[in-house]
Amino acid sequence: MKIKSAEFVMSNSDVEKCPKERLPEYAFIGRSNVGKSSLINMLVDRKNLAKTSGRPGKTQLINHFLINKNWYLVDLPGYGYARVSKRAKKTFQKFITDYFEQRKQLVLAFVLIDCRHEPQPVDIDFMHYLGESNIPFQIIFTKADKLKPNALTRNIDAYIAKMLENWEEMPEYFITSASNREGKEAVVKNIHTINEEVKGSL
Ligand code: GTP
Ligand code: MG
Repeated sequence: MKIKSAEFVMSNSDVEKCPKERLPEYAFIGRSNVGKSSLINMLVDRKNLAKTSGRPGKTQLINHFLINKNWYLVDLPGYGYARVSKRAKKTFQKFITDYFEQRKQLVLAFVLIDCRHEPQPVDIDFMHYLGESNIPFQIIFTKADKLKPNALTRNIDAYIAKMLENWEEMPEYFITSASNREGKEAVVKNIHTINEEVKGSL
C-alpha cells in the first residue's frame, strides 16, 4: 500500500473530542523516548509530521494523523517518564486509559519497545493491561540500527522468552529503525491487511 497523504488533524487530551468518523485507527504507545513519533514519521515518509525530541516527554496529547483520507495513526504521550510532576503523570494516565477503553475506532495498539533494553516491568504491565482490556496489540521493536545483528537477535529472543512466561504465544512483532527505515514495509502492509479485515465493521 502506498501512503499518498498524511495530515495532522488534531491534538487533545479528551477521548470525547477525538475525530468522530468511523475510520480505523492505530495507536502508538510505549515509554517516553522509545521512538513513537519518529516511527510515525518514518511510516508516512515525513520528517516532522509528528514532533520528536531527544528529551523524553515531547508528545503530551492524543494526536490524530489522517492517512490516505481513510485511516488514522495516533501518536500518544509516553508512559514511565519520571520527570513530569506527579499530577501531570496522573492526568496522562487517565486520558490514556480513557482513550484505550473508550475509543471504538481503535483497532490495534502498537506497543513500542526499545530493542536495546531488557524487558521492563512498565511495558510488561502495560501489555498485561491491554490483554485484560481485550485491546488487540502488536509489538514494535525500535532503534534496531543501534545494535549489531547478533545483539539484536539475542535481545529479541530474550524478549520473546519473557513474554512467553505470561502469554500463550508471542504477539505479532516487528523490528524497526526510524533511522534506516527497517521494518517500514512490513508494518504498513500489516496495517493495510487489518484495514481490509475491519472494513465496514466500525
Ligand atoms: P515521547 O513523545 O517523549 O514519549 O517520545 P517518543 O517515543 O515519541 O520518541 P521520539 O520519536 O521523539 O524519539 C526520541 C529520540 O529517539 C529522538 O532523539 C529520536 O531521534 C530517537 N530515535 C527514534 N527512533 C530512532 C531509531 O530508530 N534509531 C535511532 N538511532 N534513534 C531513534
Ligand atoms: Mg512522541
